[in-house]
Amino acid sequence: MTYENILVEKRGAVGIVTLNRPQALNALCAALIQDLGAALDDMEEDQAIRAIVLTGSEKAFAAGADIKEMASKTYMDVYLSDFITKGWQRVTTCRKPIIAAVAGYALGGGCEMAMMCDFIIAADTAKFGQPEITIGTIPGSGGTQRLTRFVGKSKAMDMCLTGRMMDAAEAERAGLVSRIVPAAELLAEAIKAAEKIASFSLPAVMIAKEAVNRAYETSLAEGILFERRVFHSTFALEDQKEGMAAFVEKRKPVFKHK
Ligand code: CAA
Repeated sequence: MTYENILVEKRGAVGIVTLNRPQALNALCAALIQDLGAALDDMEEDQAIRAIVLTGSEKAFAAGADIKEMASKTYMDVYLSDFITKGWQRVTTCRKPIIAAVAGYALGGGCEMAMMCDFIIAADTAKFGQPEITIGTIPGSGGTQRLTRFVGKSKAMDMCLTGRMMDAAEAERAGLVSRIVPAAELLAEAIKAAEKIASFSLPAVMIAKEAVNRAYETSLAEGILFERRVFHSTFALEDQKEGMAAFVEKRKPVFKHK
């Protein structure tokens, strides 16, 4: 399937989605969000895909929601259409792992979309920011919430109130990104990480993702309880039997993803 605003490739067990509106620095217009949702639907249904990489261009992961599309919307327009929540949430409901590979600008909705992914690998050229305040609004897709959980109140306030950008080094220090790689190696490194994940048991990976995400949604005691329940559930997997038997027998496991 071909899309107007994204490029999609399947490389073995890894799905690669590239945001592709170069004329607008990958600004996240409604049509792009629709394309992205359809691509994620397809990759979730495709049993052969076990990890996804979401990336942009060298210059921009995404420079935010599309300001030109947004500019004339009224309160009723955005309220009735649940503007920005609808569609964007598809990234957060994806049960397969998604890595954001970010080079250049990840601003506003671009930063928010990267934060919706499971983790962020940044090129040394990456710049993160929530500049909505500079155009008379505020982050509308998790920027005040997820960023605060990632980097703490002080830095999140600084970013949201001054609109300043964070470079890759600061973003790594603050815990927003998991690692920094040279820009020329960004996609290869992200694919390598995705291949590593895809080499493991898919249900175990999905359960691990669900458990880590739970840490954001609940108290420590509830989270620990949830973790123990789903940890116990992994003992129902053939892959757990295979993984542990392979360790004992000093051989590589052959996971069947069940
Ligand atoms: N929406 C629509 N178009 C955008 C855009 C955006 N968010 N960001 C860039 N573009 C367009 C520009 O209008 C320009 O198009 P034209 O050539 O037709 O004028 C093209 O992309 C290239 O951009 P620039 O000429 O501005 O490139 P630059 O290198 O000089 O600057 C930049 C790069 C600093 C990222 C600058 O483009 C910029 O500040 N962009 C807007 C960033 C922003 O405010 N993002 C937040 C959006 S609001 C939001 O995301 C809400 C939310 O929480 C969900």
